[in-house]
Amino acid sequence: MFTSAFQNKTVWLSGHTGFKGAWLAEWLLKLGAQVHGYALAPSTQPALFDQLGLSNRLHHQVNDVRSAEAVHRSIQATQPDFVFHLAAQPLVRLSYEQPAVTYATNVMGTVHVLDALRSLKKPCAAVFITTDKCYENREWIYGYREEDPLGGYDPYSSSKAASEIAIAAYRRSFFKNHPVRIASARAGNVIGGGDWAVDRIVPDCIRALQRGVPITVRNPHATRPWQHVLEPISGYLCLAASLTSDLRPLISGLASAFNFGPTHESNRTVAELVQEILKHWPGRWEDKSDPQAVHEAGLLQLSTDKANALLGWSPVWNFPTAIEQTVRGYREMSRELILNQILQYAAAAKQLGLPWA
Ligand SMILES: NC(=O)c1ccc[n+]([C@@H]2O[C@H](COP(=O)([O-])OP(=O)(O)OC[C@H]3O[C@@H](n4cnc5c(N)ncnc54)[C@H](O)[C@@H]3O)[C@@H](O)[C@H]2O)c1
Repeated sequence: MFTSAFQNKTVWLSGHTGFKGAWLAEWLLKLGAQVHGYALAPSTQPALFDQLGLSNRLHHQVNDVRSAEAVHRSIQATQPDFVFHLAAQPLVRLSYEQPAVTYATNVMGTVHVLDALRSLKKPCAAVFITTDKCYENREWIYGYREEDPLGGYDPYSSSKAASEIAIAAYRRSFFKNHPVRIASARAGNVIGGGDWAVDRIVPDCIRALQRGVPITVRNPHATRPWQHVLEPISGYLCLAASLTSDLRPLISGLASAFNFGPTHESNRTVAELVQEILKHWPGRWEDKSDPQAVHEAGLLQLSTDKANALLGWSPVWNFPTAIEQTVRGYREMSRELILNQILQYAAAAKQLGLPWA
């Protein structure tokens, strides 16, 4: 897996106390990396970071990306070979309640990491995680491509589009003749064991099923590109490894934005997602569509042709497998289970002939 790209390498990972950050930290540790996490303390109870006992196995720094000075000090002290920037306020509905916090965290947090990387004097591959919601959503049936216009209706989506614009501007302005290479990764609607965020459909389903009450669904007809968390994370690792690979130096276009979305068959409605979950954990759901609800995108799909052409990356698990593994992740969460799911995922990727596996 990823040959030896991450073995004994130093990684600065922001957002390691969150859902995707904890999965990425676990995979990086498995690949032999020294992981330096930078994030706020876990905000949910339970939290995957605690469930996996990650604080004992990586360098765990609790700090704020809104502090330029603290980010700068941390990156300078770490001298990373790789940077993955995941720390963010990632919830659309919360962004309506706390727009200023969302922009400060997502836009200025990104700018602070970019700025700190300017003073790094060694080769480093940096991947900034944004979202599929950064595109100007036209509710069309085609997948968005990396060159499509950025936008975002709500504060969260537009904060990520603004981060993308800042990343591109820093790349052009400061990283042309610089040892640090900068890319961004856009994925969306990630599911998997250990996400306990409020106001996300899968954690909401699991909490209802645990309590034995009907699942309330506020947006049953919205279509999303559902994907297991291992899909985008394999994409982030592929992208970072390719940015540094001696075999593929400076392939034009690598230091840029990449979509990591699922295959077309995984573009399903929220109602279909809930019904698939109920196959593995029986229960009931209720349609609680609220005409007064804040705006959320209805239709959103990504084209992954660029990731496939330049990185040899493709999605691996289909929709039913992603749901089955997700429900298992909630029912049996442990470090062993996560390692097992990574191995199963890599074996399936190998069968498909993906180069990273
Ligand atoms: N989960 C998804 O479906 C999804 C989809 C698209 C993009 N993303 C992006 O992936 C990344 C990770 O998302 P997640 O689902 O793991 O979210 P999460 O809420 O589980 O984790 C967020 C992480 O960011 C950290 N953080 C938040 N504010 C911070 C601050 N001011 N200073 C330092 N750290 C701070 C938190 O401590 C936590 O570690 C985010 O950038 C998010 O926008 C997530």
